[in-house]
Order: sequence, then C-alpha cells, then structure tokens
Amino acid sequence: MSPALMQSCTALSGSLYRRPCFLFILVAVAVSVTYTTFALNWWNDPQGPSVINHTGKTPDDDRTNHTGKTPDDDQVNTRVLTNRNGVQWEDPGRYHVAYPRGYKFVMDEPEKCRNGNQAPFLVLMAPVAPGNLASRDAIRRTWGNETLVQGKKVQTLFMLGLPGGPDAQKLQEKVNQESRAHHDLLQSDFMDTYHNLTIKTMLILEWLVSRCPEASYAMKIDSDVFLNVQNLVSMLVNPDTPKQNYMTGLVWWHSPVLRNPDDKFFLPYEVMAESEYPPYPLGFGYIMSMDLPKKILGVSPQIKPIYIEDAYLGMCLKRLGISPTDPPSKSLFDVNPIYSYGRCKLSTVVAVMTTRVSQLLRYWQDYTRPGPPC
Ligand SMILES: *[C@@H]1O[C@H](CO)[C@@H](O)[C@H](O)[C@H]1NC(C)=O
Ligand SMILES: *[C@@H]1O[C@H](CO)[C@@H](O)[C@H](O)[C@H]1NC(C)=O
Ligand SMILES: *[C@@H]1O[C@H](CO)[C@@H](O)[C@H](O)[C@H]1NC(C)=O
Ligand SMILES: *[C@@H]1O[C@H](CO)[C@@H](O)[C@H](O)[C@H]1NC(C)=O
Repeated sequence: MSPALMQSCTALSGSLYRRPCFLFILVAVAVSVTYTTFALNWWNDPQGPSVINHTGKTPDDDRTNHTGKTPDDDQVNTRVLTNRNGVQWEDPGRYHVAYPRGYKFVMDEPEKCRNGNQAPFLVLMAPVAPGNLASRDAIRRTWGNETLVQGKKVQTLFMLGLPGGPDAQKLQEKVNQESRAHHDLLQSDFMDTYHNLTIKTMLILEWLVSRCPEASYAMKIDSDVFLNVQNLVSMLVNPDTPKQNYMTGLVWWHSPVLRNPDDKFFLPYEVMAESEYPPYPLGFGYIMSMDLPKKILGVSPQIKPIYIEDAYLGMCLKRLGISPTDPPSKSLFDVNPIYSYGRCKLSTVVAVMTTRVSQLLRYWQDYTRPGPPC
C-alpha cells in the first residue's frame, strides 16, 4: 500500500472499476486499522501532533546532514527517549521513524544462507506481524516451500518486530516455539506496528548485508501476496536483467505526496517539501540486486526515515543516483486485482495481491494443479 495506490484508485473512479477499487481501499483500510488497533494503537500516540500546518518554511530531507537531523528538528520540542539497550534518541514524531537506532536481532538464523555449500540465488523476505501465524503458515505451504527453482536455491524468511499489548509475553512464547519448529523467523527489538514498517524494512536490509551477502537477489514481499517463484526466477536469470543497481517491481514514477491530513499516507510540507516522491517500486513486492542493501544502508543516515517504507527506499535510491527499473511487463505485478485470478493468469504473473489467506491458498492450489494452465 502506498500513496500511489490511492492515486491510481482515484484515477479509476467513475470508470467501470470504481466499485472493486473502492472495496479494495475499504478492505485495505480496514485491515490496517485492525492491525494498528490490535498492535499498538498509534493513532492515540500522544507524541505526535495531529496536524502540522505549513509554516512557510520548506525544509527538505535533502538538507539533512550526516547526523540524521534536519534543521527543523531543533525547532520542535523534542523528547529524549531511551531504549532497552540504553541508546538515547529523540522522539521522531509522527511522520518519521526511529531509525537507525542500534536495534538488535533477538531471534536470528545466522546460518540460513550458509546451509550446504551453495549460497541462495534468491532470498524472499516477508515482513509479518508476530501474531500473524496464519499468514506464515500459508506461505510455508505455498511459495515459501519453493526451495529449488530451475536449479537455483531460494530461501524464505519472515521478519518480525516485538509484539505489543497485554498478551505480548504469551505471544512471544508462541513465536519462540514456532521458531524452534521452523527455523525461519527473524525478530528484532523494535515495536512491531504499522507505523514502524520502515524500521522493519531497514532491518531486513541489515540482515541481508550481514548474513546473506553472497545471494544474487532479494525480494521484500508482503505476506498477503501470491508469488509465482518460477516466473520470478525466470525474470532474474534472463541475461537482460542487471546484476547490480537493480530494483524492480511495480514502479510508481510519479507518486504525489498526499497533503490532506485525512489521507492515510499524509505527510506535511515540514517533512517532505517536494510534491512527488522519487520513483520507487510499490512495497507489496520489490526485488533488488544484492549490492543494493549495503548501498541503501550507506546513504540512509543522510536521509531521515519517513514512515512510508517504499517511498523511503525511493528517496535513498535517488540519493544513490540509481533509478528503479520497470519489469519486462507491468502485468507481472498486480497490487489491485479487479477480479480473482484464474489458473491461466496465475501462470503468467510474478506477484499478485490477495484479499485473505484463504485466497492465497486457493490460488496456490489452482496454480500447482497438474496439467496445462491455459
Ligand atoms: C499554523 O501554525 C502556526 C504556528 O504553529 C499558527 O500560529 C497558525 O495559526 C497555524 N495556522 C493554521 C492555518 O492553522
Ligand atoms: C548538522 O548537524 C549538527 C548537529 O546537530 C549541527 O550542529 C549542524 O549545524 C548541522 N549542519 C547543517 C548544515 O545543518
Ligand atoms: C513442501 O513441498 C514438499 C514437496 O516438494 C512436500 O513434501 C511438503 O509437504 C511441502 N511442505 C508443506 C509445508 O507444504
Ligand atoms: C517504533 O519502535 C520504537 C522502538 O521499539 C518504539 O519506541 C516506538 O514507539 C515505535 N513507534 C510506533 C509508532 O509504534
């Protein structure tokens, strides 16, 4: 989900597609509201002002210096917080996130990319909330169980933050058990909330750099997405596919910064003065060559992280002077399917958003049934 999605839906209003689009937004909003309410209820976060108006200044992330502070920071009443590792930082406010702040992995699989003698060709990293066992199990039964594709090793891992709420401890014990059973969970010590997804993404990159540097490509994929691993590997082994400085997915070339405080992805001028985000592939599923995680982490201290994770990666790419790449065909990625996909269409895509776990399971069953797909 991203501002560009909202824009594409708005653009479709009045057309044939209005209703599914509207329903999709409704479902997406409902899901995220449920998620946030369930997880930590950041709407009630007392730290953030509800609306910041345009004071006439045009501070800009590009002017952020290497200390990670914008000139504006000093004009806001910042609170100093201390995390469990004793690291102090300023309250980032509602639109930024606290990264990098020396988060630690409390659950790791350091040998995952070294099992056997062959590094994986492709690592699939799925950010998922600690309580979302249903999605993890669905992925384990579907695309996450694809470990060797066209002779290429594929590795799937889940990235979690810490559970919140009254049941946090109980939930954490379940997660520990699940980790012992499957050995595919990574967990770091930040609060797992919707607003903190950028932290999750950056920690995925950190993990890839430290634990999986020999892989060729990595994909960040949301847990509610159907993935055709065969087609993804075919796309990546194609000689035309760059091996470096390569990031692809459903690229939004002109995603507007939303200025209506009622918008889910609202950002005030104070945080982002430009009217458009730099180009970025939509967060539901993007692929990068394995040189990029390190490069992105290298420039990220210069760019204060916003809470919109995919747009933030676009800001880092721009700083690196790297442009995302359109996939060979845009129909390979579908974030807003208007109709449910059939077996024939599933055989032609890379990533398609699903509406619920049962749809992902049904898609997989349909797609893997023997016989010609079309
Ligand atoms: C904007 O903020 C300034 C200072 O924070 C305040 O004086 C002004 O009234 C606000 N303007 C609007 C339109 O809210
Ligand atoms: C960079 O950050 C330091 C520390 O906050 C500050 O003293 C300095 O003025 C900043 N430089 C610029 C150009 O903003
Ligand atoms: C994964 O696939 C193998 C066959 O390739 C199958 O035996 C196994 O049951 C599958 N695992 C799950 C969790 O579906
Ligand atoms: C994000 O994670 C940090 C570190 O755990 C936490 O202090 C902060 O409250 C979280 N932010 C939100 C909005 O949940």
